[in-house]
Amino acid sequence: MTDIPNVEKVASAGVTFELASTSSAGDDLVGKTAIVTGSSSGIGLECARQLLARGLSKLILAVRDEKKGAIARDDLASGWDLKPGAIEVWHLDYSSYDSITSFADRAKVLETLDIVVLNAGIYRIPRVILPTGHEEDIQVNYLSTALLTILLLPILDVKKHPGTKPGRLTVVSSSVAAWSRFKLPQDGRPLLATLDEAIRDRGLRPPSAILYLETPWTAVLG
Ligand SMILES: NC(=O)c1ccc[n+]([C@@H]2O[C@H](COP(=O)([O-])OP(=O)(O)OC[C@H]3O[C@@H](n4cnc5c(N)ncnc54)[C@H](OP(=O)(O)O)[C@@H]3O)[C@@H](O)[C@H]2O)c1
Repeated sequence: MTDIPNVEKVASAGVTFELASTSSAGDDLVGKTAIVTGSSSGIGLECARQLLARGLSKLILAVRDEKKGAIARDDLASGWDLKPGAIEVWHLDYSSYDSITSFADRAKVLETLDIVVLNAGIYRIPRVILPTGHEEDIQVNYLSTALLTILLLPILDVKKHPGTKPGRLTVVSSSVAAWSRFKLPQDGRPLLATLDEAIRDRGLRPPSAILYLETPWTAVLG
């Protein structure tokens, strides 16, 4: 690992993480637009709040429960002097491919798009097989997150705020992805089909490594 000055390092389960320095206030996001998924609660809601604290001009709360999204929007808006329509609530359900593609189509009409934070995710103890045929954790944390990434990257590319740095897409993952391991199938069968079969037919939990995208998919476009 390359030594970077002024970067705090934290060791966990044998893996060293570098924490980038952040500031919680400022106006460097004035004029910019961001999408945050899973932003009606938890890390996504706090991320949305911090983007607004840095002057963000337009925020899309991407949520599966629009009532919760509206509550989050009102909560966020109460702290700032925002223009009307500065915070919008858009429906996004990772258990449906139609919902993901409709969401991405909707993003094409945004004037600019500078920041995407794909934060929505779950860790469910009882196994649930979704209509897509995949177990819910794998569907939400991995497959749907990857699909939305693929659909939004070209939009980020063409919709970046004029005259500024390229857009940025960040996936919120887990340290679990850094240290857990699973065996690849030895018989040449596709990994996903093998996992689906083990989870559906033999009742196994999905391996932790694949529950979260394995790499910090921070894509900087240029
Ligand atoms: N907190 C931790 O210690 C921790 C540790 C490791 C990883 N993470 C990751 O960090 C991210 C945020 O977690 P959090 O702790 O803030 O949890 P959280 O409060 O439960 O937030 C998760 C968000 O994801 C949304 N979501 C779940 N399933 C969805 C679906 N099918 N379609 C669209 N949105 C969906 C939830 O929406 P609803 O409100 O409608 O349920 C919620 O807004 C997740 O990706 C999680 O895996 C967190």
